[in-house]
Amino acid sequence: MQLTKQLGLPPREIAEKVVATIDKTDLIDHIDIAGPGFINFFISQEQLLLQLDEALKTPKLGSKKIIVEYSQPNIAKPLGVHHLLSTIIGQSLYDIFKYLGFDATSINYIGDWGTQFGKLIYAYKQWGDKAIVEKDPISELLKLYVKFHEEAEKNPELDDEGRREFKIFEEGDSENRELWKWFVEESLKEIQKTYDKLGGIHFDYTQGESFYEKATTPMLEHGKKLGIFEEGEKGAFVVQYDDENMAPFVVQKKDGTTLYSTRDFCALKHRIEEYKADHILYVVDIAQTLHFKQLFEGASRFPWYDDQATHVWFGRMHLKDGKASTRKGNVILLNEVLDEAVSRAMKIVEEKSPDLKDKENVARVLGIGAIKYNVISQNRTTDITFDWDRMLSFEGNSAPYLQYTYARGRSILRRGKMEGDSIADPEDAAEKIRQLLAFIPKFRERLTDAAKEYKPNILANYIFELAQKFNSFYNSVPVLKASSDDARAQRLKIIGTTTQVLKNGLALLGVEVVEEM
Ligand code: ARG
Repeated sequence: MQLTKQLGLPPREIAEKVVATIDKTDLIDHIDIAGPGFINFFISQEQLLLQLDEALKTPKLGSKKIIVEYSQPNIAKPLGVHHLLSTIIGQSLYDIFKYLGFDATSINYIGDWGTQFGKLIYAYKQWGDKAIVEKDPISELLKLYVKFHEEAEKNPELDDEGRREFKIFEEGDSENRELWKWFVEESLKEIQKTYDKLGGIHFDYTQGESFYEKATTPMLEHGKKLGIFEEGEKGAFVVQYDDENMAPFVVQKKDGTTLYSTRDFCALKHRIEEYKADHILYVVDIAQTLHFKQLFEGASRFPWYDDQATHVWFGRMHLKDGKASTRKGNVILLNEVLDEAVSRAMKIVEEKSPDLKDKENVARVLGIGAIKYNVISQNRTTDITFDWDRMLSFEGNSAPYLQYTYARGRSILRRGKMEGDSIADPEDAAEKIRQLLAFIPKFRERLTDAAKEYKPNILANYIFELAQKFNSFYNSVPVLKASSDDARAQRLKIIGTTTQVLKNGLALLGVEVVEEM
């Protein structure tokens, strides 16, 4: 178009002249002139086919040490459905970074320290029963904790009792230490069962707040010496910020005790100095944004910190169906939600394929996959909706749709041979094939984007789009009935690669597939 004036010709005519001089190589199928004078090159099917194998090769994006911290449940509290977000997003990011060649480490920073343990110890000593707690630890411990708060409303002195128990606990009282250790062990056992049910959840380290018990005193001294931890009101120590919107960050209370913030400074320093992390991702609720701003801004005044940390935040989870049958107190128990998903999936399986073998496993893969994919496929920076019908639907952007697409492809591959009489290609066959072929190699690109933005939903969107292109190909292009052996072999190869990409992509999103459903 820029040449129009110079040559005194309309752009389309110039385009025609340009096209006429181009040697058609094997790379190009045909060249089109479109609109006012655009030249479109269509890559040949052979070239696209050559790229198929490339698509399955793992791209190496980096080799740096990256720590991903996620899940972070609190001891003696049940896992709620909201724990899905950090757990699923964090696990997927860890898996993606590993896949891309990074030296990834996952950490579960459990909440196993703090004044709440004084209250719990007091409540247990007062009203607890070993045998009852052993039977159903988290739920019984939660009851004791709730009872403590109810009683403390009537009798505020209980708060002092709780503080006292925590103080002697921190000082090393052996009875309290034993109790605490037992609470932690029992809780972790139960939490692990839920992780097992979710599947694919893996931590290189379970290092909670208690891991930093001994590090807090040196950390406080270090920060005071550098003048970063300043004495505030009544002898507490705080980090102060120029920004008026940022409240002082308390790192030591006036009674000398430490806080959540103190231990976070220790953990950050430890991960940088001991684990030599180049990057640390904190996959945590948006509600803790200020906390992490205060932490990272405070850390930037220490010589050991160089912007390694990122708060990978996510929005709230909204329940579309507020009256979920699993409501108990005010948390919706993750365990119950997972069981419900599997039993809902079982109903669907019974209905759709009553003769399937291994229905149990298919229902598990479908149900759990639906829950996980529902979280991972939504943009984490918006609120996430929890909608049973949508997540279990076989249409739209859902795990069952993708799993079904995969199983469909695999079933053709199993059959593999010519079936019956051949069918002529419909007119749009070449275009359908081209669209699918051209899209497969985008896997690596989209995966890289997902990693760069810490957004697995970018990968999920790709997988969904791939499944749509695949289904559109599958629904109109004959494969087993293709009119030549070559065409059939080529199409089977396309299906082989597509299903492999679907499977690899879903695995990175934490979703399993089955061969038949
Ligand atoms: N256990 C905390 C909670 O449930 C989350 C921990 C987040 N990680 C951190 N390093 N502060 O709120």
